[in-house]
Amino acid sequence: MNQFVNIYKINDNSLKIAKDYVLRNIPFGFPTETVYGLGANAFSSEAVKRIFELKGRPQDNPLIVHVHPEYDLDKLVFDNPTAKKLREAFLPGPLTMVYKSKGVVSPLVCRGLDTLAIRIPKHEGALKILKYLDLPIAAPSANKSKHTSPVTAEHVYEDFGLEVPLIFDGGRSQGGIESTVLDVTGDVPIVLRKGLITAEMIKKVVGECRYAEDGESLMKRSPGTRYSHYKPKTNTKLFKADEIDLLIEFYDRLRSQGKTALILCEEKVVGRVGKRSCFSLGSDGETMANRLYYGLREGEKYDYLLGVDFLLDDEVKLGVANRFLKAFAE
Ligand code: TXA
Ligand code: MG
Repeated sequence: MNQFVNIYKINDNSLKIAKDYVLRNIPFGFPTETVYGLGANAFSSEAVKRIFELKGRPQDNPLIVHVHPEYDLDKLVFDNPTAKKLREAFLPGPLTMVYKSKGVVSPLVCRGLDTLAIRIPKHEGALKILKYLDLPIAAPSANKSKHTSPVTAEHVYEDFGLEVPLIFDGGRSQGGIESTVLDVTGDVPIVLRKGLITAEMIKKVVGECRYAEDGESLMKRSPGTRYSHYKPKTNTKLFKADEIDLLIEFYDRLRSQGKTALILCEEKVVGRVGKRSCFSLGSDGETMANRLYYGLREGEKYDYLLGVDFLLDDEVKLGVANRFLKAFAE
């Protein structure tokens, strides 16, 4: 039994409760392999509106829709051969694809775009929920807008408390950063949001793929990239990898003032800061993705979170760095 009354294990009883909430257009929290989502019936404008209200999400930022692997996508979007190949290679998994929409979900999901982003998650619990409900579930990450995305049911509770009456607990999300968002409506697939499925991996399956360039066109295509994101609720300061002396000086000054601080850094930095409090992100991109949001949320227990920048020596680190730098942006 969890200490919070609205956190439920996934079982027949809680699935029934979820169905009742979904039919009443009340959003619920649920686990996926990337981060936790705040879900509601994508056909219902009232339900989708409620997601935006709960999150305080900017009105022009579209939502992605979650379905189980057997759901007939032809009901929602126009399919194409590239998307089909990529589904066979990567789904269920942390890849969201943007298709031409058939316009059957609530117009509040796509926010004026003629496309619809669909995600088939891999998490066992998420699949159970999606199969039981058998509806397209619109779901952004289950955090208040701008805050760090949640990777546990308790993180969802921290942001919403009893405002979200049902939060499914499926353990800590292992992926740790949001899915890759890939536009498959054109000739060449374009990565709009970096994630665990990289452009190189996609290229191996369909021959071509590129990253969208930051700037105006990306903002139009994927409005979410424009907003500040992932901010932990504490003081933050970022140090370059060659500024460890400065970091140590800053940390020790804080401690002498009676303040607490946590250092968030790659494993190889840990040995260089002595006995000071550290949260290691590990060394490879996947481990760093798995630990990033958990570490940012841990940092909220301290007066200061001090980040150390890292080299982009594997492709998954592009996605990790994108979030890391936004979390530490002034
Ligand atoms: O891993 C994930 O994707 C998580 C879990 C819960 O599935 N969800 C998630 O949702 O990260 P959200 O709303 O936080 O991010 C969705 C991103 C936003 O950047 C949004 O702008 C973009 O996807 N997006 C949604 N629909 C789009 C569309 N039709 N075209 C382009 N970008 C779209
Ligand atoms: Mg989000």
